Amino acid sequence: MNILVTGRNGQLGWELQRALAPLGHVHAVDRSQLDLSRPETLAPFVTALRPAVIVNAAAYTAVDLAEKETEVARRVNAESVQLLAALAKQLGALFVHYSTDYVFDGNGLRAYLETDPVAPCNAYGATKLEGERAVAASAADWLVFRTSWVYSTRGRNFMRTILRLASERESMSVVNDQQGAPTSARMIADLSAHAIALALKERRQDAFESGLFHLTARGTTTWYGFASEIVSLARQSGVFDIKVNDVLPVGTEAYPTPARRPAFSVLDNAKFEHRFGLSRLDWAAALRLVFDDLARA
Ligand SMILES: NC(=O)c1ccc[n+]([C@@H]2O[C@H](COP(=O)([O-])OP(=O)(O)OC[C@H]3O[C@@H](n4cnc5c(N)ncnc54)[C@H](OP(=O)(O)O)[C@@H]3O)[C@@H](O)[C@H]2O)c1
Repeated sequence: MNILVTGRNGQLGWELQRALAPLGHVHAVDRSQLDLSRPETLAPFVTALRPAVIVNAAAYTAVDLAEKETEVARRVNAESVQLLAALAKQLGALFVHYSTDYVFDGNGLRAYLETDPVAPCNAYGATKLEGERAVAASAADWLVFRTSWVYSTRGRNFMRTILRLASERESMSVVNDQQGAPTSARMIADLSAHAIALALKERRQDAFESGLFHLTARGTTTWYGFASEIVSLARQSGVFDIKVNDVLPVGTEAYPTPARRPAFSVLDNAKFEHRFGLSRLDWAAALRLVFDDLARA
C-alpha cells in the first residue's frame, strides 16, 4: 500500500515518515517533487503513484508573510488541498489533512469545539479555513485534524527559538496573554498514524465516516509558560549553554506583528479521543520527551 506524504522536510512531515512506516510504503515528497503553489502540476505525479492514503503535511505556514503573500498561501493551503482531495476521490484513497487553531478569532472563553463558529483573525487562518472547507466539500473519504502551537527538534519553531535566545541573552520577555496548547509534531504524527490505521480498517468494513477533529496536547499554557518550561528543562539537562536569568511575562502589545494572533486558542479534543479511542499526553510531559531527544542529540 502506497502512502503519499507531502511536506517531508516540515516538522510534521518529517515525523509522519517514521510514524506511518508500519502502515505501508511511505513516499514522502518535498516541494521539488510536488509543488503545492502550482496546483496544475499535482495530478500527473499523484495518479502515477496511486496512493491508498494521501497525507498532506505541506502548508504555507509563514503566518506574518501570508498577510502579503496571500495569493501564494491560498494556492498552497486551499487550491492544492481541494485538488489533492479530488485526486484522492478519483483514486479511492483516504485523504488526511491538517488545519489550525487560527481558524478561530480567539475570543472564546472555553475550549473550542469542532462545531463552534469560525472567524480567522489573519490571512493564514483564512486560507487554512478555505482548505478545510474544500476538503469537507469533496466527495473523498477524509480526515482533517486541527492542531496548534507545533514544535519539534527540527525546523523553525518556538522551542528552538527560545533555546537560542536563552543562550544569547540574560533576560527575555515572552507574551503571557495568549493561551493555547503547545503540541509536539511527534505526538501529532503518532496519533495520526493510530487514527489512520483505524480509518483504514473502518473503510474495509464499509463503516468509515469522514470528519474534522481537534488534535492537540492536553492542558493549556501561555507562550510565557511554555518558554519558562523550556528554559527550566534546558537548565536541568545540563547540556545546553543557558545564559538567561530572567524570563519576563509581557502583553501581546509588546510584540506587534503583521498578522494578528488569537488570544485564546485552546481546542477541545473530546471528539478525537472518543472516535479513535486514543489519549493524549499533557503538553509539559510531551515537551520533556522531545527534550530528552534534543539533549541526547
Ligand atoms: N506550525 C504550527 O505552529 C502549526 C499550528 C497549527 C497548525 N499547523 C498546521 O500543521 C501542519 C504541519 O505544519 P508544520 O508545523 O509541520 O509546518 P512546517 O514545519 O512549516 O512545514 C511545512 C512544510 O510544507 C512545505 N511547503 C510549503 N510550501 C510548499 C509548496 N509550495 N509545495 C510543497 N511543499 C510546501 C514546506 O517545505 P519547505 O521545507 O521546502 O519550506 C515544509 O516542508 C500544517 O497544515 C500547518 O498549517 C501548524
